[in-house]
Formats: sequence, C-alpha cells, structure tokens
Amino acid sequence: MTKEFFGIGSHKELQKVLLQEKPRKIFLVVGKEAYEKSGVQAAFSPMLKGFEVLEFSEFEENPKIEDVQKGIAAFRSFQPDLVLACGGGSALDMAKSINALAVQEGDPLDFVLKKKEITHQSKPLVAVPTTAGTGAEATHFAVVYMGKIKYSLAHRFILPTYSIVDPQFTFSLPAKITASTGMDALAQAIESFWSNKSTEESKAYAREAILLILPNLAAAVNTPTPEARGAMSKGAHLAGKAINISFTTACHAISYPLTSYFGVPHGHAVALTLPSMILFNSEADEQSLNDSRGVVYVKKAMAELVNLFGARDGREAKEKLEQLMDEIHLERRLSRLGVRAEEDVNLIVENGFNPERVKNNPRILTIEALRLILKEIT
Ligand SMILES: [Fe+2]
Repeated sequence: MTKEFFGIGSHKELQKVLLQEKPRKIFLVVGKEAYEKSGVQAAFSPMLKGFEVLEFSEFEENPKIEDVQKGIAAFRSFQPDLVLACGGGSALDMAKSINALAVQEGDPLDFVLKKKEITHQSKPLVAVPTTAGTGAEATHFAVVYMGKIKYSLAHRFILPTYSIVDPQFTFSLPAKITASTGMDALAQAIESFWSNKSTEESKAYAREAILLILPNLAAAVNTPTPEARGAMSKGAHLAGKAINISFTTACHAISYPLTSYFGVPHGHAVALTLPSMILFNSEADEQSLNDSRGVVYVKKAMAELVNLFGARDGREAKEKLEQLMDEIHLERRLSRLGVRAEEDVNLIVENGFNPERVKNNPRILTIEALRLILKEIT
C-alpha cells in the first residue's frame, strides 16, 4: 500500500517522510523542465539540504529502455537509500523502472520482455506528480518503450512507497498539457469503470474520478482556478488507483502506436477513440460480450457510466465527450494528426491490437470493428 498525502501544501510532508526513512543518499529523478517550472525545486531544495543527492534527468518523454539503462547504471554506482521522483508520467515511470530493475540480477531487458520475474524489493520510492494525468504515483506498473513498441513492467514492488499529490505543482502547467494529461486521467477512469477486471473498489475510485474530472477539465484548461486544478489532481490520482486494480482497456491499447509513430501525446492519443468506444461498449450484447459477469451486468455498468455524463445513452455520452475535446482544443481527426494513408491505419491496427489490453474491454473488439472506429475518426 502506498502512503498517500494529498492537498495544497501537502508537499511539506516530504519532511516527515525523510525523518521516517532516514536516508543518507537520495536518487532524485526529475523531468528537468517540470522540476523547475512546477515549483517543486523551490519547495524541495531547502528540505534536501544535508542529504547527498544525485539528480537524474537524462531521459525523454515516453520512457525508453536506453534511458532506463542509463539510470540503472547511475543508481548502481551511487547506491541510494531512497528514490524521489518528481514530474509527469514519464519521470515517475522512469524512476519506478530504474528503482525496481537496479536491484534485480540479470539484464534489464529480460524483465521488460517478461523472460524474468522481479524478485527483489528495492528502495523506498516517493512519487510527486507535477501533472494531473497518469496517476503513475498510484500504480504498480511502468511503461517502457523499446524502439516503437510499448512494454509494461508490472509488479507489486513497483508501487511507490509514498505519494505526495500537491495540486499546487500543476498550477503553472500550460493549457495544452493540462488538456492532454486531463484526458488521460478521464480515459483511465472510464476504461477502468468498464474494464473486465473492475471490482467494486476500483469502480468506486473510477466513479469519483469521473465526477471530479468532467465538470473541471475545461475550466482547468481554459480558466484555471485552484479549485479546478485541485479537482483534477484528485481525479487523476483516483483514476490511477482505479487502473491499479482494473488495468486499462482498448483506448489505451490503440493509443500506443499513435504516440510512438505519430508523436501524439499519450493523453491526446487515448482520448481519440474514447468517444467511439463509449458508444461501442454501450451496445454490447450477448453475442459480443467479453465480460464473464454477463450481459445484464455490463448493460447496467454502461448505463451507470452514461448516467455519470448526464447522458441518456451511449450516443449522447459520445457527443458529450466530443464536445469536451473541442472545448479543450484537442484535435479529434486522425488525418490532422498525420494519420492519412491506409497504411498509416494498418500500422495502428497492427500495433495497437494488444491482445492483453483488448481482452479487458467489456465488448469483443474485432480487427474489423477497430478499423471501422478508426475510419470514422480519420
Ligand atoms: Fe494513460
């Protein structure tokens, strides 16, 4: 279980964490720009005085295995007692992967490729998000790209020991990043709600996340107030807790090639198929059902989800999502994001049809159905 601190000013809790853990050496993993601009550096620098700190920020967005390997080398020669990760999803995932893999025996690649299992617990990790999006501070998995292919490390040892979610650190986020990371949080909450692996607990987190994000995302993007930012931070954190149990589904699976081949930011990429998928899943029937809890259960869950949007049916919920994307200025057409030719669509279908993620979708998503969905938004 992660020990969680939440709220404006909660960053001060780092002091207590340091008193509790008594580290001598701290491995600080930060997204360089975010660390400074978010205000984390100014807030944490005084608290980090007196500790031996090694800062690692040599990585790009969407964590790459080469960068994880660099981090592992730095970690091993420094031998820290604690890892402090501050930044967006990439920085947090980077820290989680480095911390977990640095103490395993063997080639890090073998763990990413699932040839070997994580067996050793690593150092305590404190995760401090500077976006309201991925919820990476609340999950036991981490994304790693090898070339254009996305892999996921998953183990209970990857779950952060502490999370400090201070909405204050998101106050200076540009509108564009607020929009895409906010849609990641919303997609994670929605996908978690309809996931085959959902539980009553994950649904409670997802429900609360949706009810926080829906009325606050447009305000956080266009006319940010501390209240809207606070609601987004809380919603994103809860959505992270929800997918930590239920995992994500089709929209996430389809999104990865859009990010790696076409450079669409993660949150924007998952948002693209979200409106179509809410309609698609709300039309699940006996023949197309994927969830062992049965058609009555899925129909009821989808009706509740649609209701959370204040919509009457899947089509109206789809329209509301499209409106929201327009309000926060996220392009909805694939053709305007560089996906034009038939071969581009083939690339997405071939690489986005991850059987494990698609399997979590409550309605069977065939390649043909996915093609139709992509065609509709091209
Ligand atoms: Fe995501």
